[in-house]
Amino acid sequence: TLGPDVIDVSSLTAKGYFTYDPGFMSTASCESEITYIDGDKGILLHRGYPIDQLAEQCDYLEVCYLLLHGEIPTAPEKAKFQKIVMHHTMVHEQLHEFFQAFRRDSHPMAIMVGVVGALSAFYHDSLDISDERHREVAAHRLISKMPTLAAMAYKYSIGQPFIYPRNDLSYGGNFLHMMFSTPCEPYVVSPTLARAMDKIFILHADHEQNASTSTVRLAGSSGANPFACIASGIAALWGPAHGGANEAVLTMLEEIGDESNIDDFIKRAKDKDDPFRLMGFGHRVYKNYDPRATVMKQACDEVLAELGIADDPLLKIAARLEQIALEDPYFVERKLYPNVDFYSGIIFKAMGIPTEMFTVLFAVGRTPGWIAHWKEMVSGPYRIGRPRQLYTGKVARNLKK
Ligand code: ACO
Repeated sequence: TLGPDVIDVSSLTAKGYFTYDPGFMSTASCESEITYIDGDKGILLHRGYPIDQLAEQCDYLEVCYLLLHGEIPTAPEKAKFQKIVMHHTMVHEQLHEFFQAFRRDSHPMAIMVGVVGALSAFYHDSLDISDERHREVAAHRLISKMPTLAAMAYKYSIGQPFIYPRNDLSYGGNFLHMMFSTPCEPYVVSPTLARAMDKIFILHADHEQNASTSTVRLAGSSGANPFACIASGIAALWGPAHGGANEAVLTMLEEIGDESNIDDFIKRAKDKDDPFRLMGFGHRVYKNYDPRATVMKQACDEVLAELGIADDPLLKIAARLEQIALEDPYFVERKLYPNVDFYSGIIFKAMGIPTEMFTVLFAVGRTPGWIAHWKEMVSGPYRIGRPRQLYTGKVARNLKK
């Protein structure tokens, strides 16, 4: 059977007890039918399908549909879904002005937290979450608009005009077009890069109750609207221990700078008095190779071959780090394997995507997972999430001035 041995402690409250589990190391917060992970074996299934099969055989919109509806779409279902998603790719013109209020040097994740939350001010019909049709439209809007907003955040940061979406391109291809086309020169989307983009989005699409998805569920459990919930997920994703790791990997590789410096950084990663960690290594759940990292590494090789960049110094440092970590007893004993963020940063860099955009791309890819979890929760009976605490402060005392 799927799933670990489970002790149901939900009845303890009535007896006046609760459990203490910082970091949720052994606490399941919900039941879910969407994603299954076996971290010891390195297995990741969406609705029962292995991630490598989905990445190889499906496009991103098929995976979005699978996460939301439980099945791979038939050809007519796919055509209908694609048409609906394409219908929503533009954003309200007034959102353009919203962007202008940000400083040019704002981190694009800061912009995303703001503008995705601001969608609730534009699409009022999606705020009534009691109606299944409204929940559905909110899901479509978010999946459609995330790449548009992400590309706008980038264009704003470099002072270029926003580029409107092209609905004749694939999801990944359209994103590359909005990122790199200019009014003077269209960006010719290479099928290999568009497919790689789609694959990267698939590999990020869902990962059960990670920090950002749990945040989306917790926000949603109060009845908050879907745009506010996804904005809270984006905020949680930003941290370097979560989605921010792909950016941190590149920053680290640049800091290492040369293969001759690798040993010093490995020494620092092992030193318990130094907070430095080897970014892109280790995972809370996977104590084996992250199955997404295997597919990502392959996609990385394909992109580098297409672009003809094999001798990038940072890539050489990355390859050497991977080799050392797989042989060094410190990493082997702790089962610290390269995770999905280790390779995604390298592909993004090769594609010409600036480092500050890496976590934004993770957010775009993760959107259907966040929405699928939010929808799963609000479509059934649920109660507000309200963790308890162990109070360690002062005992009751009297105030005498
Ligand atoms: N470099 C060096 N040592 C590490 C690393 C690392 N990247 N990761 C874990 N360790 C060590 C810890 O110091 C600890 O050692 P100890 O037992 O001697 O004290 C041991 O391995 C276990 O680490 P924990 O922190 O207990 O593991 P946890 O499950 O809490 O953390 C995490 C997982 C946050 C991913 C961690 O491995 C890490 O910080 N990695 C780097 C950041 C990163 O790549 N994050 C992306 C995660 S994947 C994702 O979000 C898609």
